[in-house]
Amino acid sequence: MAERRQPLISGNWKMHHDHFEALRTVQKLSYNLADHDYAKVAVSVHPPFTDLRTVQTAMESDRMKFALGAQHCHWEEKGAFTGEVSPVFLAKLNLAYVICGHSERRELFGETDDDVNRKVKAILKHGMTPIMCCGETDAEREAGEAQSKVEGQIRAGLAGITAEQAAGLVVAYEPIWAIGTGKTATPEDAQEMCAVVRRVVAEVHGADAAAGVRVQYGGSVKPGNAADLMSQADIDGALVGGASLDADDFAQIVVASV
Ligand code: 13P
Repeated sequence: MAERRQPLISGNWKMHHDHFEALRTVQKLSYNLADHDYAKVAVSVHPPFTDLRTVQTAMESDRMKFALGAQHCHWEEKGAFTGEVSPVFLAKLNLAYVICGHSERRELFGETDDDVNRKVKAILKHGMTPIMCCGETDAEREAGEAQSKVEGQIRAGLAGITAEQAAGLVVAYEPIWAIGTGKTATPEDAQEMCAVVRRVVAEVHGADAAAGVRVQYGGSVKPGNAADLMSQADIDGALVGGASLDADDFAQIVVASV
């Protein structure tokens, strides 16, 4: 049997925690996690842009072992794009991961599959790992379109990258109806959809890419449901929103995922 992919538990703070709150949260998280936790699970935190430098400085000086990531970036390196952040700036902060194509960016800010694909390529070009999100709405699930929606997002988002790049990617399957609602996909449903993600990666980029890509589940992951979700064969971690704001809850999710 292939060696298990190391799970990645990521905390997406969305538009929560100013830089003072961010500092307190990562200090507490670092205190809550022990070296042996990191041996089996990779952990990343994704604060708002204004917190990144503060958190990065604290992580370096206190040798915190989780990785730092962003929630979003532009695909261009520089230019007249008021309010946007360049992947070059994020790479300078030694960020490991950048989330792209989150459903909130797609639904609220009009990001298209093509935009997401440009971001995936830009993030890879600058030596960081994309966490590319996909997922269906409630109406799409009811209409039996969940798999085709996710399949289309994966094919478009991962177009034009190499098989080797695809093998190193993280894809987060986040059903929109489960985000921030307290409703979680059952472990079986989450597994089924994460297997769809892996199948599509295999079809586009081959078996090695499919074996390497890490597929996270996201949508109301909590300390109480993390272990069941993480025990599924095709679920390699979690993208956690609300529960990642609290360092105790987030640490419990990490420990439950080991
Ligand atoms: P919740 O964990 O708050 O449902 O958020 C999930 C999410 O969108 C993480 O990116």
